[in-house]
Amino acid sequence: MNGLEHFLCSSSLWRYLTQRQLLPWVLSGVRLGDHVLEIGAGYGPATPQLRKAVPRVTSLEYDAKSARHLKAQHNGGPGGALRGDAAQLPFASQSFSSAIAILVLHHLRSREVQDRMFAEVYRVLRPGGIFLAYEINDSWVHRLGHIRSTFTPVSAGSAFARLTRAGFSRISVDFRRGAFRLGAIREKDSSTTD
Ligand SMILES: C[S@@+](CC[C@H](N)C(=O)[O-])C[C@H]1O[C@@H](n2cnc3c(N)ncnc32)[C@H](O)[C@@H]1O
Repeated sequence: MNGLEHFLCSSSLWRYLTQRQLLPWVLSGVRLGDHVLEIGAGYGPATPQLRKAVPRVTSLEYDAKSARHLKAQHNGGPGGALRGDAAQLPFASQSFSSAIAILVLHHLRSREVQDRMFAEVYRVLRPGGIFLAYEINDSWVHRLGHIRSTFTPVSAGSAFARLTRAGFSRISVDFRRGAFRLGAIREKDSSTTD
């Protein structure tokens, strides 16, 4: 991330917007189950709200500084915070009832890495588990905002085929204000290869 992103993502304004607007929309109509994997948690604006919603939240973050911040915020209790890579998840298969990634996919360095993340999320979800992602559309404003950062936009149109290839079903895309929510289920009766 660039300096502007670090500044915005660690701000109390972003925390407020995440908790009051973004998260209620992303989680609407969704059952998260008992153990959520939060991928690319950043400075943790969504983490307290997720912890209120479910018994256990595990927050994963690649950036060392943000991961340190997350760990310091986590004051014991179930779940935890750790440093790790979304494309190589350090968890056993079928560990989580749901996984959520807010503004993370476009921060992965290529389409191939994004596809590896989809496959990894599928692997660590229990049958019946749901994957949720919140993403921004490709636009010149967002490209400008990601100068000296990573911006690999995901097109909503390609998401069906890519998530299906990873094994998911019941894929949904909902749009709101230049952004969209992806939802995908690991079916209960899908054959397991892990
Ligand atoms: C725009 S920030 C969003 C952070 C947080 N979800 C939020 O809403 O504030 C994107 C996050 O994805 C993280 N990230 C990038 N690549 C990652 C990877 N391979 N594995 C895990 N996290 C990653 C970044 O370090 C950053 O914290």
